[in-house]
Amino acid sequence: DWTAANVIEEQVARIREQVGDARAICGLSGGVDSAVAAALVQRAIGDRLTCVYVDHGLMREGESAEIEKAFGEAHGGARLVMVDAREDFLAALAGVTDPETKRKTIGERFIRTFEKAQADIVLESAEDPHATDVKFLVQGTLYPDVVESGGGDGAANIKSHHNVGGLPDDIEFELCEPLRELFKDEVRAVGAELGLPDGIVHRQPFPGPGLGIRIIGEVTQERLDLLRRADAIVRAELTAAGLDRHIWQCPVVLLADVRSVGVQGDGRTYGHPIVLRPVTSEDAMTADWARIPAEVLSRISNRITNEVDGINRVVLDVTSKPPGTIEWE
Ligand code: XMP
Repeated sequence: DWTAANVIEEQVARIREQVGDARAICGLSGGVDSAVAAALVQRAIGDRLTCVYVDHGLMREGESAEIEKAFGEAHGGARLVMVDAREDFLAALAGVTDPETKRKTIGERFIRTFEKAQADIVLESAEDPHATDVKFLVQGTLYPDVVESGGGDGAANIKSHHNVGGLPDDIEFELCEPLRELFKDEVRAVGAELGLPDGIVHRQPFPGPGLGIRIIGEVTQERLDLLRRADAIVRAELTAAGLDRHIWQCPVVLLADVRSVGVQGDGRTYGHPIVLRPVTSEDAMTADWARIPAEVLSRISNRITNEVDGINRVVLDVTSKPPGTIEWE
């Protein structure tokens, strides 16, 4: 029988067996997957787990601060290391426009950042008799991530998820992935059973590579700032309209290499389009475009074009998955 309690019991035993008395780190993204993976591992090995949050500069507005706060509430007492790697990621992404190269660049940066963080963790735990090097990296990889990264049986590589196909070959850590057989709704059930707060359990998905794969074209600081402002407006309006639980997620995409002519006040503009990609889904393997009420779309469009200098057009993506994917890259 599938129950969240059974999954927890089984996974905690498996993790204990795998990790033994070694140490592990878990990259927290603020999303439900990594939070549930961390909570499971913490239950299994206690404070031999250290969580690491990497601020890669590809997060949405206010998100890093929210995550730090939510972590305190969810994992009272567990250790969290915050790493500011914004400059590193931006430098690595300079000149990169191909979507798969972008994903692999971001995946590799994550690993390099964890490797650096490891040194601090070992130093801090020097008085612990079990303070061997950090041997395991905990990831919240789900079954669909494995399948779509080409790791499932006979599946094609659709896109390399940052924590699966996007990992470098020379990775020093052993992976511990307790959610690898689960779908998102199952992960949410496990999270609820583990007592994680509602805000985390029902959080909409946000991809590990963040806004990096929502800028079509090269990722630059200026483009990130533009997208962040438009995205904040979309999220605020969807929340205000009470739609958060009705949609699976709503990527906001900047077509950074496209410009179109517009008119504002009595002047000509030549700006970038923003794409809204609201979807409904059960497990992200398939999706439909979400029928957002016209007046909500209208408010979003007015606000973005009025408030975000450089964006003069808002378009709606009405493609299902398949043939589209949820994210544009
Ligand atoms: P696609 O674009 O493949 O997205 O239809 C399916 C779901 O996965 C999320 N996604 C990712 N999540 N790392 C993640 O943690 C990734 O590299 C990644 N790529 C896509 C996406 O937001 C959607 O929920």
